[in-house]
Amino acid sequence: MKKETIKIGLLGLGTVGSGVYQILTQNSKDIERKLGAKIEIKRIAVRNLAKPRALVTDQKLLTDNLDHVLLDPEIDIVVETMGGLEEARWAIASALERGKFVVTANKDLMAQYGIELLKIAKEQERNIYYEASVGGGIPIIRPLKNCLAANRIVKIMGIINGTTNYILTKMSCENMEFEAALAEAQAKGFAEANPASDIEGWDAAYKLNIMASLAFSSRIKMDDIHVEGITEVKLRDIRYAQELGYAIKLLAIGEEKQNGLSLRVHPTLIPQSHPLAAVKNEFNAVFLEGDAVGEVMLYGRGAGALPTGSAVCGDIMEAARAIKKEVQNGILEATFTEKPIISLAAQSSRFYVRLKAKDEPGVFAQLAAAFGNADVSLDRIIQKRSVEKTAEIVLVTHDVKEGNFMQAISSLRAMEAIRSINSILRVVE
Ligand code: HSE
Repeated sequence: MKKETIKIGLLGLGTVGSGVYQILTQNSKDIERKLGAKIEIKRIAVRNLAKPRALVTDQKLLTDNLDHVLLDPEIDIVVETMGGLEEARWAIASALERGKFVVTANKDLMAQYGIELLKIAKEQERNIYYEASVGGGIPIIRPLKNCLAANRIVKIMGIINGTTNYILTKMSCENMEFEAALAEAQAKGFAEANPASDIEGWDAAYKLNIMASLAFSSRIKMDDIHVEGITEVKLRDIRYAQELGYAIKLLAIGEEKQNGLSLRVHPTLIPQSHPLAAVKNEFNAVFLEGDAVGEVMLYGRGAGALPTGSAVCGDIMEAARAIKKEVQNGILEATFTEKPIISLAAQSSRFYVRLKAKDEPGVFAQLAAAFGNADVSLDRIIQKRSVEKTAEIVLVTHDVKEGNFMQAISSLRAMEAIRSINSILRVVE
């Protein structure tokens, strides 16, 4: 079909929506040349019409009624950048049922209702594009669906939350306190409306759900993912990790093992020589290993108006090509099965522990015995400093089953010589 103009409707004009508007406006000529068609923003639904929006020159484009986008027969593509769950879920389903293509940046939604919405898209012979839902401007969804599709992906490991990476970078490089670094990330527009989702690891978990579903061709529920955020990471742990040759990063990790999938988000010590350790500030990176391709790393800006807008606009162009019938429109996600999930207790890891103990003869021996009795082998054990007969001890285990490690920790908690266990973090080599 030769369509000279593809009309789109935007739902939401916040950080991402504004980025999309700006890119479509400033790069309109290039986009038209590459696409062979013009992209026209026909309508923009916003929550508050009274809010001044200097970016939009024609105020008539704005409406506070979603139906003015969803029911407009001229609109070919609905672009959802309003966020949230239930209203966005309803709006996307209605858009698809009215024969529109959909582009969304909404990871919370795609992680929890993606399969349901993709089924509707398939029934309607339409599609949902969601490149912007993971890693902002970094291409990751399309590489997993297309370029790397012939591989068996063994492992995928990413820094996929810009806010927490920004906070950890500021803490480790500038000795900045957690709260001050979070405030800066919020001011720069990286953080979610409710930053609890960033710092408690949920934003990364939604993104891991989406990436791992595609990497392992499996339907993944949020309950399948073990999630820990960075709220308990202290400046002191960052310093000690540095002394041991590690950086601390919030990693989202998915692995396919013989007995199933291991899926987790947690702060992790990684060697300073690992490429992910060099990923600083709000930057994101995904490091994956395929049986054919080997190691691949994708790096870029994972948040912010223009980087995320870049991915959304790429998707709008892809949808436009489908409308012009220039590309196939296959939805492979609908064919996924469900692979077994390996429980956390059965997974293995190395652990970093920081604790306080009485500084007196025999304490190291008791510690070593508690770990030995649980079949946990220690790699390093260092007494950091002693203040008022209390020693701070840092230790790193070899690779152990989580279950065994937790058994050792329970015995430590019961020991009279142990004053407190202050920090437990996993280590990836
Ligand atoms: N809050 C997210 C982040 C923004 O910090 O990475 C993009 O999803």
